Amino acid sequence: MEVVIAPAEELARLAADAVEQLVRAKPDAVLGLATGSSPLKVYDELARRHTEEGLSFGRARAFMLDEYVGLPADHPERYRNVIETEIASRVDFAPGAVQGPDGLADDLPAACAAYEDAIAQAGGVDLQILGIGTDGHIAFNEPGSSLASRTRIKTLTQQTREDNARFFDDDIDKVPHHCLTQGLATIMSARHLVLLATGRGKAEAVHQLAEGAVSALWPATIMQMHPHATVLVDDAAASRLQLAGYYRQTFASKPGWQGL
Ligand code: F6R
Repeated sequence: MEVVIAPAEELARLAADAVEQLVRAKPDAVLGLATGSSPLKVYDELARRHTEEGLSFGRARAFMLDEYVGLPADHPERYRNVIETEIASRVDFAPGAVQGPDGLADDLPAACAAYEDAIAQAGGVDLQILGIGTDGHIAFNEPGSSLASRTRIKTLTQQTREDNARFFDDDIDKVPHHCLTQGLATIMSARHLVLLATGRGKAEAVHQLAEGAVSALWPATIMQMHPHATVLVDDAAASRLQLAGYYRQTFASKPGWQGL
């Protein structure tokens, strides 16, 4: 696992560089998209590179990590709509190239299985962008999630619903209780994981992710088992890292030509 500590703008540029390098080398790449605040600067940078530098996603595909159950199709916080606003509509994905789990399906388990099939049929995800919850979740794999889980229905924790109330007029009662989420094994099947975390509120989760014991209690710790995982954090999110000095030194002495 590579941990990079840098200001948020630089983290976004580094993540965008990794996406750009992939898409230029493999135009039909499969991307994994996260929602929430953490990847927003990355999406801004990718949209800028599309508009100003011709970076094209015209042959790429993308899969979302998760979706709330039951939010109406036109709800602005439905993750399908959020992804459309934050990135899909700002670049040139082909119609239908961005997919997400169907939180409005009549048969939710069947929708989860179909989603797993769709990812597999696309050849798997090349680069997965991730955020982390203050409780250590990735996607919506809350504490206690099976480390071998696949896409399924999960119940959001009180902590996650409190954290996400800011997107719902600060009213926790408006935050759904359930979601469909890629499982930890689904995420681990992606070929490169790029996680972004900023702010002191993420410091404990980041410490556990990089330096804690692998455990369902801190689901993100499964990333320690991934052969190509990159963790991009600002100073505040890095503030509890025991090996922060080593991570800084390693990145500072990394050859410029070597990507993430
Ligand atoms: C969203 C997702 C979540 C968020 C996490 C952090 O698709 O999968 O795991 O990445 O809750 O959210 P933010 O970035 O808003 O702090």
